[in-house]
Amino acid sequence: MPQPEPVGAPGPVAGVLGAVGRTPLVRLERLSPGPSARLYAKLESLNPGGSMKDRAAIGMVQGAIASGELVPGRSTVVESSSGNLGIGLAQVCRWYDLRFICVIDPKTTAQNIGILTAYGAELDTVTEPDNDLGDYLSARIKRVRELVLTVPDAYWPNQYANLLNARAQETVMREISEALDGRVDYLFVATGSCGTIHGCMRYIAEHGLRTRVVAVDAEGSAIFGAAPCRRLIPGHGAAIRSALYYDGIADSVTRVSDQDCVVGCRRLVGTEAILSGGSSGAVVSAVTQWLPRLPEDANCALILPDRGERYLDTIYSDAWVFEKFGDIRHLWKEQAAC
Ligand SMILES: Cc1ncc(COP(=O)(O)O)c(C=O)c1O
Repeated sequence: MPQPEPVGAPGPVAGVLGAVGRTPLVRLERLSPGPSARLYAKLESLNPGGSMKDRAAIGMVQGAIASGELVPGRSTVVESSSGNLGIGLAQVCRWYDLRFICVIDPKTTAQNIGILTAYGAELDTVTEPDNDLGDYLSARIKRVRELVLTVPDAYWPNQYANLLNARAQETVMREISEALDGRVDYLFVATGSCGTIHGCMRYIAEHGLRTRVVAVDAEGSAIFGAAPCRRLIPGHGAAIRSALYYDGIADSVTRVSDQDCVVGCRRLVGTEAILSGGSSGAVVSAVTQWLPRLPEDANCALILPDRGERYLDTIYSDAWVFEKFGDIRHLWKEQAAC
């Protein structure tokens, strides 16, 4: 039988940047086998650059073009990122004909290097870690400062202090709220630069929503004041607290171990057929801890920041998981069954 045309199907957009945002909000009906709060996943992997950081990249670059700090065809963007923001910026810089130097470190995956290079980004690699925990953030930022002083017409968006990073992420909360008619009881957000949580909180405050925001951070991350320790999974967590952080940026914080990220990812793909990145696994793991305490009529939104294809050699590699954690397959099977 012929299917009716969807009502109000979106028309064409002008250029790939017009395709950023308006990502699907998917009701998760299988993650929790018993009765539970209603879970909705915002699939940010479906942005054209593959993550929610497309929004931040566009917001920061377009803001700097509007203020005259960046001139298409002439300026150079310099930023530190080993992953999604770098890819988002590489895409936006290609679109606006801006040179882009991305400062990376030895932990940047071969796949991300390939993607950045394909968009035309130039890579500058720091080699000396900040400490013996394998962090490179301070070294990368130091290198960005050097480049900004020496490269002509260079501009540093500085995602860790740029309010436009946060302003751009208000759109994700607006889309979630509009899809749920303004009733978002809980929001689970992974934190790194704190741009996303800052933007969501701002939208919530400005629109008088009664949403409780749960920050999902990595064990060993310094954002919420814990002692730093070695972390395996990139994306969420940070070795330094960003200037976008403020006291009260979240109603609660849930810290998730690397192992629980893996379990969350494997469970999500096993139950809902969603192949997501490590911080999405952290969000799933956090919500799993919360579910027994949440009322059944609560609407819970989960922002899933990126896609799983970028983690095939780690989270979705049985050999890697076995090497790092031993045989933990029972953990995602047990959780799915309980
Ligand atoms: C996969 C992933 N998850 C979470 C985050 C944290 O988001 P934010 O920097 O907005 O706090 C990032 C940031 O790059 C990310 O790439």
